Order: sequence, then C-alpha cells, then structure tokens
Amino acid sequence: MTTVLTSQVKRLVGELSIPGDKSISHRSVMFGAIAHGKTTVSNFLTGEDCLSTIACFRKLGVTIHQHEDKVEIIGKGFDGLVEPTERLDVGNSGTTIRLMLGILSGRPFYAALEGDSSIAKRPMTRVTNPLSQMGAVIDGRENGKFTPISIRGGNLEGFTYELPMASAQVKSAIILAGLQANGTTTVIEPSKTRDHTERMIRQFGGEVSVDGLKVSVTGGQTLQATHVHVPGDISSAAFFLVAGAIVPNSEVTMRNVGINPSRTGIIDVMLQMGASLHVSEEGKDAAEPVADLTITTSSLKGITIEGDMIPRLIDEIPIIALLATQANGTTVIKDAEELKVKETNRIDTVVNELKKLGASIEATDDGMIIHGGSKLHGGQVNSYGDHRIGMMLAIASLISSEEVTLENEEAISVSYPMFFSHLNKLIN
Ligand code: S3P
Repeated sequence: MTTVLTSQVKRLVGELSIPGDKSISHRSVMFGAIAHGKTTVSNFLTGEDCLSTIACFRKLGVTIHQHEDKVEIIGKGFDGLVEPTERLDVGNSGTTIRLMLGILSGRPFYAALEGDSSIAKRPMTRVTNPLSQMGAVIDGRENGKFTPISIRGGNLEGFTYELPMASAQVKSAIILAGLQANGTTTVIEPSKTRDHTERMIRQFGGEVSVDGLKVSVTGGQTLQATHVHVPGDISSAAFFLVAGAIVPNSEVTMRNVGINPSRTGIIDVMLQMGASLHVSEEGKDAAEPVADLTITTSSLKGITIEGDMIPRLIDEIPIIALLATQANGTTVIKDAEELKVKETNRIDTVVNELKKLGASIEATDDGMIIHGGSKLHGGQVNSYGDHRIGMMLAIASLISSEEVTLENEEAISVSYPMFFSHLNKLIN
C-alpha cells in the first residue's frame, strides 16, 4: 500500500502510552509455554511479529488465549510441547524463529519452520551451528543457511560458546537450549546485548548466572508460571523521541517506557547530542525498569556512535540517522555491520531513502556518515517491508517541505500497529 504522509507539521504536543516491548512480548509467550501453569501477560504487543509467536506455539500444542493486549498461556513445561502437524510460520519475525529454534532443539520431534521473503534472506547458521553442536539435527535451504528450516531436537549436551557477533537472539536461543541440556551451558558475548531472556528466567523462578559477558544456565530446571507486565517498547518510543526533538515547538511525554540499560543507548546518544530529554525516576520493583520520558524540541550536535554502544541501540539506528540529519555537524556510526542482516539491509535502506528526501548521508562498510543541517524536501520513498524504515520515513515527512509518499506502509504493523493513530494524536 502507498500512503501520503503528513508533512510540514507545526508542532507535536501530548502524551502517549507506548505499546508493549516486542522482545519481552515474544519471550512472555515462549516462557509461558515452557513453564508449568497459567501465565498471564498484560500490555502484550499485538504487532504481527508477536502474533506470529502466539500462532507458532499454538501449533506446538500450547493453549493460548489472547484478547487485545491480555494473554493467557497454559504451560505444561518443555515436555508439554508436541510435534506440529503443519509448518511453523514466523512471518517477518527473526526473534520468533531464532528463539523457537533454541526451544525446539531439545524437543524429541520434527518441525519445519518458514517465514516471509525477508526472513528467507536472513542468516540462520548463527543459531543452527551452535544448536547443532549441542546435538540438534537441523537442515535448511542452501546447506542449512536459510529458511525453510527443518529441525529434529534431541538429547543436548551443555557447552561453552563464544558468540561471534553481539546478538541477543543467538544468545537467547542457546540459553533456551541450555535449559534442556545435560550439564551447564555458557555463552560468552563480545558486547553486552539485551538481557530480557536472563531476567525472564529469574521471573519464572529459574536460575541463570551472569558474570560480565558470561551467561550460564544448567539444564533440567523447572520454570513456574507467573504474571508478566510488558513495559512500553523503547524502540517504539524512539520514533516519538526523535519526532519531538526535530519538529519545532514540540513537547511529547511517553509513559511507562522500558529503560533496561541494555536498551537505553538511544537515551544516552540523544543526551550526548544535546537533546532536551527528561527521564522520570524509574519504577523500582518490576523485573524490567520503566520510566516516563519527556522530549522537547532540541538543538543538537553530531557525535560518533560506535563499539559497545551499538548493541544498546541497534534497532534505533534508522531513526538516529534521521535525527543526525537535523544536528549541527557530522555524525558517524561505526561497528554496526549487523544492520546489514536486519529486516532489510538497513545501511542501504536508511541511506538510500533519506537521500531521496535530500539528506546528506553516505554508507560505509560498517555504518554511515551523516552530515547535519539538511533541509528535507518531498519525494517518493519505500519501507521495503521494514517496519522501522517505514516509521523513520513517516517521522522524516513531518519536517519535509513538500509531500512525501511511502510505499509498503503496511510493514509498520509488525511492531507498532497504532503508530499513525498515536502520531495523529500529537499533531491535533
Ligand atoms: C532482538 C534482538 C536483536 C534486535 C531484534 C530483537 C531480541 O536482534 O535487533 O529486533 O528480541 O532478542 P539480534 O539478536 O539479531 O541483534
């Protein structure tokens, strides 16, 4: 679908309650399924990716009731999962396929997994190699590199694995396999990535040991059902943080946003760039910390973003690139090769689409260089089926001097189905 976006917006004012975190929503269903008893989830993200996770676990025999953002999962432990009679379709969701492979690697049955045309291009050996080393039998297209993937799980042996890339999906897949393996499984990360899986093991009564970049679990643990309240997704809030900073005369408050330190790179970077961003005192007693965020129109300067910061804001780089087009000076993003294997090659899609609107931005091998101070004009842009590219372009349009049309706008519902209604609330 092609949509004409709103341009030349005078101000954004108001408050939003940001929908549930995508990473935590996926995990709430998965942990609910492998725990014993009835898990209840509130503020579940009803984006298509998380609905794919529900559909897959239903096919694995799990009873799941979902009504809007409330979900109930009747878990019967790992052993309660049954061989699916149909293929498991993960849609556009990398988190679903990679974490589910970790769970299935310990199950003594066959399953076939597939997704959409973007999933078919995304690398799977990063998870299938370590899971095969643990004992699962996995195959897939092009010698196991891509979907469709078949898996027959079995007896797993715990091991120690050094992750070749900073990836929470790979770390989580191995941990989920490790919960079913003989002995101890240890994952060593090159940089700290989001730790929602580790936190959720504890929330479901399990044990995980974390020592710097080393995460270990022992197999054979029994997890117990619990209640999960999903905090607002900072990766969704990021679009309105940037919108509030770059649209004139704006003030936007976002309530109950998750501020897990492994996800708050966007806050650190915006503060470093000079943004007028206020973080309320965080809520203390939950498994995941939350806060209210208020942004007002800001005068910004370019910075360099690199190293250990990258995994803390990997999904926010498209919208940070837009922010940098409005800063004084140059912003350099380095060490972000992982962008090439997201829903699209986000180095290419960010650079090409922002250029079409008049931004001064160049791709590099591991990131991009953005020269600030660009006046954006209109044009025809494309999300290429990537939700975060679609939302970034919709925010870019707010400050564009002429009409912007967006192709493949429907991709946005993968992570933020109410994005346009939230945006319109701030415009009126
Ligand atoms: C996610 C991890 C990240 C992130 C993705 C969600 C997760 O992917 O980009 O949107 O929920 O674990 P990688 O593990 O590929 O870095």
